Amino acid sequence: MLAKTPPMGWNSWNTFGSDINEDVILENAEAFVRLGLPEAGYEYIVIDDCWSMKERDAKTGRIVPDPKKFPHGMKYVSDRIHEKGLKFGMYSCAGVRTCADYPGSFDHEFLDAKTFAEYGCDYLKYDFCYMPETANGELMYRRMGLALKSSGREILFSACNWGSDEVHKWIRSTGAHMYRSTGDIHDNFESMKKIALSQEKLLGYSAPGCFNDTDMLTVGMFGKGLVGTTGCTEADYRTQFGLWCMFSAPLILGCDVRKLSGEMLALVKNKDLIRIDQDEEARPPIESHTGWGGDKRVYFKHLSGGEYALGFFNLSDSDQRVQTNLTNFGLSASSGLALSLRDVADGAHFGKFTDYISIHIPAHDCRIFICNLENA
Ligand code: GLA
Repeated sequence: MLAKTPPMGWNSWNTFGSDINEDVILENAEAFVRLGLPEAGYEYIVIDDCWSMKERDAKTGRIVPDPKKFPHGMKYVSDRIHEKGLKFGMYSCAGVRTCADYPGSFDHEFLDAKTFAEYGCDYLKYDFCYMPETANGELMYRRMGLALKSSGREILFSACNWGSDEVHKWIRSTGAHMYRSTGDIHDNFESMKKIALSQEKLLGYSAPGCFNDTDMLTVGMFGKGLVGTTGCTEADYRTQFGLWCMFSAPLILGCDVRKLSGEMLALVKNKDLIRIDQDEEARPPIESHTGWGGDKRVYFKHLSGGEYALGFFNLSDSDQRVQTNLTNFGLSASSGLALSLRDVADGAHFGKFTDYISIHIPAHDCRIFICNLENA
């Protein structure tokens, strides 16, 4: 089964946009391996938009890789990526053109799926620009879903219609393994926060086999690259990564992996956070916003094996106390039980709580714990 747990990997778009080529992709794949990302669970290297010629081949009708960017073709790139023990992902679009105005797969779905399979592709991101005015988006995703299934290769189907057309209600039925449930992310705190908060009511739709995708991470970009804008602080990135993990979202890195280091590298490899993200039950968190002041969230998530994750998020622009009553999550005072907390940042025991937890958290930051129920 594909996408038993949320897919993990890297995608070229956030940093490189149209500025991609064989070297950029293979150097990022090399850095990916050197930094130990595969051991942490990351596996897909995905080339986003702008990889092809502007027009299809007139004779064969096929999409053709741009020889200036990919002089050895896509099978070569795919082989080099597979040699590193990684999986190879590509991009196309349900419309007539891709979002950056390259050929889309509309009405060429089966031929394109076959072409991608021939490249040795393991993952297809499928966008939503340039749809004919009367075309039905749901049907277009059904078509590519079947085209990939019949391509002769197992290809993970990553749908990307930005949360439109109530996609959460029908996308699983198309065979997709993940789907963008939001618009595009930009590398600033407000963009990330808007995306995260827009998901609260949709998280129940995310489950093994098909996960809600809150877009590629901007962690580690620090304002550099295509969606760079103002950039984020380390606290902002801790919060972004923590939210994605609490949400069981796909973890697709979008930074220049060659420059990923220090705190941010440790963050994206944090074993406890990844365990929360990759928990096989993929349960949505219970959400609580108790306490004074706005823009604070506490999420409580059941994990497999009798554990829980508890995340305190200060999404406001000032330092705050973030509080919650454990009764919100089902722990009653009469149970005789307490929740024991271990901080994912350093593994330290944080305390045992029976009813109420209040933690001081700097602006934009978070604290996340793995918890057990014990006798009070
Ligand atoms: C859309 C998608 C982005 C990216 C670009 C490429 O905006 O949502 O993730 O793939 O297209 O043009």
